[in-house]
Amino acid sequence: MTDTKSNTRPRIALVGAGGLGNVWAQTIATDANVEFAAIVDPLIGSGKESAWLANHAAVPKFTTLDAAAKAGLDAVVVTAHSTVHADILRNAVALGLNALVEKPFTISYADSEDIVARAAQQGVTVMVSQNYRFFPGALLIRDMVHDRRYGGVVSVVGEFWCDWAGKPYQHAMTHVMGLEMAVHHFDLCRAMFDADAVGGYVREWQPANSQYAGGGAIEALFDMRGDSTDFPFTYTGSLVGRAPRTPWGGKWRIEFDTETLVVDEIDGRYGVYRAHAEGHEWLASFDGETMGFNRPFEHFVDCLIAGKEPWSSGRDNLGTMKMALGAEFFGKR
Ligand SMILES: NC(=O)c1ccc[n+]([C@@H]2O[C@H](COP(=O)([O-])OP(=O)(O)OC[C@H]3O[C@@H](n4cnc5c(N)ncnc54)[C@H](O)[C@@H]3O)[C@@H](O)[C@H]2O)c1
Repeated sequence: MTDTKSNTRPRIALVGAGGLGNVWAQTIATDANVEFAAIVDPLIGSGKESAWLANHAAVPKFTTLDAAAKAGLDAVVVTAHSTVHADILRNAVALGLNALVEKPFTISYADSEDIVARAAQQGVTVMVSQNYRFFPGALLIRDMVHDRRYGGVVSVVGEFWCDWAGKPYQHAMTHVMGLEMAVHHFDLCRAMFDADAVGGYVREWQPANSQYAGGGAIEALFDMRGDSTDFPFTYTGSLVGRAPRTPWGGKWRIEFDTETLVVDEIDGRYGVYRAHAEGHEWLASFDGETMGFNRPFEHFVDCLIAGKEPWSSGRDNLGTMKMALGAEFFGKR
């Protein structure tokens, strides 16, 4: 590894050059504060690699992280299949590299805990990219919670459903709704309200004709608690939903002491609304113009340069993983 603190432009490798890797490659390539040093994917040179790789002709390409690391790296951005995140992260940490990994952190709580411990031992940063946390509407709601303009939060309801065909690696997953999708909304709930799930009830279930190995849908009721918050969070989500799909950010109803907010698509416009008996008053866009992958990346790079722990560090993300794998941790009545 090169010395990040003395190197003002960290050398970054993208690990996993599939569908989302394309978005991340553009994010890294257009950030003037970093050097796009390598792209790693076992498919490179096989004839099955992504066509978009041609857009980054000057970036060296490798089939293994070990080979890329020999060229000198500071950090990796991991956008490989969720099922291989843990192996890649263990390898990166052993090589002394900092890592930003796409959600889900890993597909098991034990692996995530193990990587947090190894990173601490090696003195490297591991951050999980939870891009929804950085949505403008989510940050607005976080401000409302902090300044208590509507009093305290008394109840939160979140909903998400879509009919997601799924990728082959997702078809083999057993907690697919929790780890691939609800993980966004559970992390959002933790981030917007500065709270953690301290108890609850989670039931994973399989809709008829689910294309997944397990957990195509989830119903949950979490007891959320923070320094100044204590509220129930009710959630329903499915990747095998037949109804018209919700926006990726989900639908939300947030009851404060004195106001009700909803995040919903009303008259074709998805955003944060104040809800009254008379109707809905537009406040702000929830998800912004793009899905905002640059925001967690910029935060990661700032933290590397400043030597700070990121907001959604691996350690922080253990709270999100506990909710995503909730059926293992909370009651299943
Ligand atoms: N934050 C979001 O909104 C969002 C959206 C989509 C996907 N994701 C996440 O991004 C990740 C990738 O998803 P995708 O849709 O791009 O998948 P994908 O199947 O399109 O691409 C995954 C790539 O990883 C590569 N790969 C497999 N094993 C590897 C290894 N050991 N080292 C390096 N590369 C390896 C594959 O060859 C493939 O090119 C997943 O974890 C997914 O959950 C996040």
